[in-house]
Amino acid sequence: MKMIIRKATTNDLKALKEIEDESFLNPFKEKDLLYELSENPVSEFLVAVDESDNVIGFIDYWITFDSATIDQIAVKKSMRNQGFASFLLENCIQSLKESGEVSFLTLEVRKSNLPAIGLYKKFGFEKVTIKENYYDDGEDAIYMVKGLV
Ligand SMILES: CC(C)(COP(=O)(O)OP(=O)(O)OC[C@H]1O[C@@H](n2cnc3c(N)ncnc32)[C@H](O)[C@@H]1OP(=O)(O)O)[C@@H](O)C(=O)NCCC(=O)NCCS
Repeated sequence: MKMIIRKATTNDLKALKEIEDESFLNPFKEKDLLYELSENPVSEFLVAVDESDNVIGFIDYWITFDSATIDQIAVKKSMRNQGFASFLLENCIQSLKESGEVSFLTLEVRKSNLPAIGLYKKFGFEKVTIKENYYDDGEDAIYMVKGLV
């Protein structure tokens, strides 16, 4: 299937919310997504779509000075394991490298989230530390970093 990347807009809200709800234990509410899409000054929000502009997945990352952090990345459940998250992450990394201003990319991931950990390792992220009790339900986060220069 053809993968197309574009910036997310508020017209994507419904599709994003559906992916959000099937992907996260504590999904963002519509207003949280709306904030990321239209208000958060540090947010870059990309979607992967098919030829008919159906949203398959998204990545939301924040750029703050010389570092960036992945806030969220998710792919529609029925479309996983086909390379969409890799495509999104590749585009994010490429555009950060092109900006020339960001030297590293960070993220937190649930200790139990093996698919996501597998994805990040594939892209060269390294475990820096464990953040204990990071999530509301008490699960630890693995803090990972990838250098971009
Ligand atoms: C994590 C997630 C975004 C991966 O999306 P995806 O489109 O299926 O990922 P890709 O097809 O690009 O796979 C990339 C790599 O991820 C890893 N991976 C994907 N699914 C995996 C699984 N079920 N188990 C182990 N590793 C997995 C593999 O290393 C894979 O590379 P490979 O195909 O060369 O082996 C998706 O599972 C998802 O949306 N999960 C729910 C939301 C989430 O947990 N987001 C991350 C929060 S930190």
